[in-house]
Amino acid sequence: MWNQRYAEDDYIYGTEPNSFLAEHSNFLINPILSLAEGEGRNAVFLASLGFSVYGVDGSDVGLAKAQQLAQAKGVKIQTEVADLSLFEPPANTYGSVISISAHLPSTIRNRLYPLVEQCLKPNGIILLEAYSENQMTRNTGGPKDLDMLISCAKVEREFPNYEPILLQELNREVCEGKYHTGMASVVQFIGRKKS
Ligand SMILES: C[S@@+](CC[C@H](N)C(=O)[O-])C[C@H]1O[C@@H](n2cnc3c(N)ncnc32)[C@H](O)[C@@H]1O
Repeated sequence: MWNQRYAEDDYIYGTEPNSFLAEHSNFLINPILSLAEGEGRNAVFLASLGFSVYGVDGSDVGLAKAQQLAQAKGVKIQTEVADLSLFEPPANTYGSVISISAHLPSTIRNRLYPLVEQCLKPNGIILLEAYSENQMTRNTGGPKDLDMLISCAKVEREFPNYEPILLQELNREVCEGKYHTGMASVVQFIGRKKS
């Protein structure tokens, strides 16, 4: 499904970074693991700020476009095609993990998020934005599957060992390519791993 979506020449989520990420990149610590990086807009932005970014995604077509974007912008990013239901990040490696619109079923999240915690160094940062459960009634983006949408309560339950720097649900105008456009309900989270 994702390879099909990414097959067109255009960058379907645009080439500009997610705005929540861009506004809060000052919280991030090097190096950065990006979950479900897609076509590279976020990794390329972070690389342009001087971060080392490792982007993982299940779509080889998406990550090929990510590398093209990096080349066009004159930065280097590392990418790996991997299914997040199997992905095993190395322990105690990353200063930050970002997860932007990485909507995964709870079966995958329940395996992956403890590994995310392990792969972060002490005091490492998680930065996440995803459509909330309240997005179900809107047609401005995100999966039509309650299990894959999130809430502040889910974040608190699924990331128990972090001090929240910011955790909120809000409605905001999203303008990030043709599939993510319009007023949307999102959950935003920045947490610091407890040491
Ligand atoms: C909505 S896109 C977001 C892409 C990117 N984070 C962005 O903000 O532009 C969701 C991404 O999740 C990836 N994805 C979904 N399920 C996955 C899985 N099980 N393993 C790896 N990647 C997955 C898709 O390939 C797709 O690139």
